[in-house]
Amino acid sequence: MYRLLRPLLYLLRPETAHHVAFGLLRALAALPLGARLLRAWWSFRSPRLESTVLGLRFPTPVGLAAGFDKNALGYEALLAAGFGFVEVGTLTGQAQPGNPQPRLFRLVQDEALVNRMGFNNEGSTAAVARLSGPRSGIVGVNIGKSKVVPEAEAAADYVASTERLAALADYFVVNVSSPNTPGLRNLQAVESLRPLLVAVRGALDAHAGGRRVPLLVKIAPDLSDDDVDAVADLALELGLDGIIATNTTIARTGLRPAKDEVEALGAGGLSGPVLAARARAVVARLRARVGRRLVIVAAGGIDSAEEAYARIRAGASLVQVYTAYVFHGPGLPRAIAQGLDALLARDGFAHVADAVGVDVDREAP
Ligand code: FNR
Repeated sequence: MYRLLRPLLYLLRPETAHHVAFGLLRALAALPLGARLLRAWWSFRSPRLESTVLGLRFPTPVGLAAGFDKNALGYEALLAAGFGFVEVGTLTGQAQPGNPQPRLFRLVQDEALVNRMGFNNEGSTAAVARLSGPRSGIVGVNIGKSKVVPEAEAAADYVASTERLAALADYFVVNVSSPNTPGLRNLQAVESLRPLLVAVRGALDAHAGGRRVPLLVKIAPDLSDDDVDAVADLALELGLDGIIATNTTIARTGLRPAKDEVEALGAGGLSGPVLAARARAVVARLRARVGRRLVIVAAGGIDSAEEAYARIRAGASLVQVYTAYVFHGPGLPRAIAQGLDALLARDGFAHVADAVGVDVDREAP
């Protein structure tokens, strides 16, 4: 079906196509029996894929990455459409329009996207009511810095969002890795990241009604290996629960179109399979550094069961997709889950958790 719909969506600007496709999905889910129908079409369940991670029971490890449902408008539809979990956001302390359009570009040959959305979102206050509704699965909340807030005051902006959303999040993500908010990625430096994470942890503990909300930090693939290690060490020191690796890259290597064609698109974060090798390497590096002490969530160019499996074997307990969902369509979470189940069975794993990190742990001294 998506094969018929996709050429029509390609006639639209990518951002419009996103709104149309997401709107259709939500409309389908809102029909009587709609959510059940979506589940029947696009969900895959197997005891092998179930796991307890971050103290939460995941039906499958295949989730939707942040940025697709920035305003928490459709997580129920997305859960019904086969995702094992959905991360909403990035939400910022203040509502903001994001960068001028056009700000999202398809690189069809590479099944890649370049985006400089700039955290267009209605703000964390607007998300409160939406996240207060009934929930049939795991919903993570990803927060970032409002553009108008200076870097030096970033913590207060993150804390404002945390206070509003702590009680409504199954897990929480501090996003310091979008390339599209000036200065944001500087917050990945340990001396900036420490006070930020301490402040968010404190706000979570004070505002989650006594529940301990798992806290993760999302990092860029463009960090040096030493910086990846430094963030991992800090996460351990501060008692964080996990790291999401990775966000989009500012690199432009490995693309098929000519350099000037790519350059003409301008600044932004690149996503899709070209990102896979680096994102996978970051996962493996993190696993080698932290072992089982932190949960690693993989994102970046995951477009198949094979790639999801490789990421799990490199150390990820959970995987997230975004760009491949755009290019492959709504059957993707099911295809990945089903294929992953088969790969795990082939290799004799009774549970997905048993495969986490096996490729890295084997090499450990
Ligand atoms: C993103 N991503 C993203 N990440 C995040 O933490 N907050 C956000 O608001 C967004 N927004 C966003 C918009 C668009 C259009 C894209 C393509 C991506 C990054 C995303 O969650 C993911 O980390 C990367 O895209 C890498 O995964 P994929 O897309 O290669 O599967």
